[in-house]
Amino acid sequence: MLNTRSSNDLREHETQSMYRSDVRPVDHPKLEVRDLYKSFPVESKQLMVLQDINLQIRPREFACLVGASGCGKSTLLNIVAGLATPTSGQVLVDGKAVTGPGSDRGMVFQNYTLYPWLTVSQNIAFGLDLRKLPKVEQRQRVSYFLEVVGLTQFANAYPKQLSGGMKQRVAIARALANEPEVLLMDEPFGALDAQTKEQMQQFFLNLWEQTHVTVLMITHDVEEAIFLSQRVYVMSTRPGQIKLEVPIELPGHRDLEIKLSPEFVEIKRQVLHALRD
Ligand SMILES: Nc1ncnc2c1ncn2[C@@H]1O[C@H](COP(=O)(O)OP(=O)(O)OP(=O)(O)O)[C@@H](O)[C@H]1O
Ligand SMILES: [Mg+2]
Repeated sequence: MLNTRSSNDLREHETQSMYRSDVRPVDHPKLEVRDLYKSFPVESKQLMVLQDINLQIRPREFACLVGASGCGKSTLLNIVAGLATPTSGQVLVDGKAVTGPGSDRGMVFQNYTLYPWLTVSQNIAFGLDLRKLPKVEQRQRVSYFLEVVGLTQFANAYPKQLSGGMKQRVAIARALANEPEVLLMDEPFGALDAQTKEQMQQFFLNLWEQTHVTVLMITHDVEEAIFLSQRVYVMSTRPGQIKLEVPIELPGHRDLEIKLSPEFVEIKRQVLHALRD
């Protein structure tokens, strides 16, 4: 008995150390922004837009960045996407420095960016076609993601025939179809009316629960940020700096009612104070 127990203990110890070494990469951030600065030349001076930005987003985490208009949010997301370069500092995905755009990062832009001359299906397939994925696989993925975003019936419609919320769902499907490691979203629901926006928040949260893709999303809507994420970063006005990092300790599965709970309201108060200070 004793022998059995001690060999079990040993096995348990081995399992734990294996687990620990297994788990270490998972503890490493999926996306990291390190000591990042960005300035633009304006009238022979340098306009400092981002200052000393450090972020660590864990695998499968949903993080939001909130800040006032003009504080540098889109600039930061464009740098993370590899569409712009920092003045100094680094962006890393899985510990590897980002040097340009890549299919590991999917982007949903601030304004609707569907190709108007392509149908919904063709828009979703766009990146897959660029990557020369076999047509059969393209069709499978497109019909899967059409289903996921609830737009199967609109497969052959053109963007001008869609509402704003539907267009954003296509943009999200297009980004997800490429199976990115990290999904970057720049105020994806910013242009929607209040009711559609809440529907999209619930829709996207359910979608994220299914895919568990790592998300970095920008918004200036504090409630939206808290409702969706596990971590909220609050940015100061220009030059944008991270003023506060708030872990959101709300239940994993959320519905819109949670916005009325005392816990939610307390977090909202904390974030709003940080934005105002
Ligand atoms: N290419 C550029 N050249 C010069 N200045 C720029 C450039 N791009 C952005 N800026 C400036 O950088 C600042 C931050 O812009 P950015 O678009 O990142 O703000 P934002 O936080 O996304 O704002 P919003 O919430 O309105 O979208 C602004 O003052 C803007 O004028
Ligand atoms: Mg912006």
